Amino acid sequence: MLVLGIETSCDETGVALYDTERGLVADALYSQVAMHAEYGGVVPELASRDHTRRLLPLIQQVLDEAGASRTGLDAIAYTAGPGLVGALMVGASTAHGLARALNIPVLGVHHMEGHLLAPMLETSPPPFPFVALLVSGGHTQLVEVQGLGDYHLLGESVDDAAGEAFDKAAKMLGLSYPGGPQVAKLAEQGDPGRFRFPRPMTDRPGLDFSFSGLKTHTLTTLKRLEQEGALDDQARADVARAFEEAVVDTLVIKCRRALDATGLKRLVVAGGVSANVRLRERLERETDKRSARAYYPRGRFCTDNGAMIAYVGAQRLSAGERDEIGIMKAVPRWPMDTLRAPTGS
Ligand code: KG4
Ligand code: ZN
Repeated sequence: MLVLGIETSCDETGVALYDTERGLVADALYSQVAMHAEYGGVVPELASRDHTRRLLPLIQQVLDEAGASRTGLDAIAYTAGPGLVGALMVGASTAHGLARALNIPVLGVHHMEGHLLAPMLETSPPPFPFVALLVSGGHTQLVEVQGLGDYHLLGESVDDAAGEAFDKAAKMLGLSYPGGPQVAKLAEQGDPGRFRFPRPMTDRPGLDFSFSGLKTHTLTTLKRLEQEGALDDQARADVARAFEEAVVDTLVIKCRRALDATGLKRLVVAGGVSANVRLRERLERETDKRSARAYYPRGRFCTDNGAMIAYVGAQRLSAGERDEIGIMKAVPRWPMDTLRAPTGS
């Protein structure tokens, strides 16, 4: 079954072709980052308009790359949520329109389920069951995954997501959007011993996260340095380093607890923040220590992409799941633990 995957939930237009026999056949991405950077964050209306501009040419591009034509498609999957409603509508309406014209099934899938299963596109995918740490711009969650659609939420952020905290810290440090990679780059020059930031919610049991206090701590540290006339480039790098260490350490502590609580030996790390090198190094050390193993998507599938949507869609569509004809879905808020295993599998 050849499935076209469409991702338009935020500021990246992602398109891919996944074949249930051959695996990933082609993928393409257009990032709107440069356009939004001017405003310091994603402007929803501009995002929707740009998806409209980019989506059809990108679909044509992946079809050409794969030497396929529209009529060779067996089904279409699109991101139905969570995300920006206008941006989601572009993907949903395009998917439904194409599916109607081609008379093939179409299915709206969950963006975070896409991130969760993105490591399945790698050459050595994680077998079920596993613990997943989902760390993106909008979500920070620990999930026990027993199988496709069998998800148990172990913990999540009670306020900001980890990626959001990186983006806000970047703004305070005068770095551009999206902040995660920039903070990480600046932190490389930082002295890890100069500041120690708090590790929120690690002093009590439980698997929930909170990152908003860390944001305030970063701001007050920068303000104090400024008042002292000591906010030079080195100080900024030292703050970036202390911030990154605190986020990474907090995530690692909670992953350790989740592995202990479930007794599982496999940890999947996905979502934009999973591209963070320091996080990967620390998790690698942690899993080695306990004869466990960490799995990640390749770099370009850590952040938003069409391949993960095509993959999840292919799993569910081949089990017979599909949207009702003409009923497109765009669900800005959609808790992942409401997902179920595909009916018929
Ligand atoms: O998964 P994603 O592409 O979009 C959402 O679904 O939110 O994640 C984007 C987030 C942004 O907040 C970005 O700053 C963060 O991932 N990010 C990183 C890194 N690369 C991307 N955060 C820390 N270190 C990185 N290397
Ligand atoms: Zn995402």
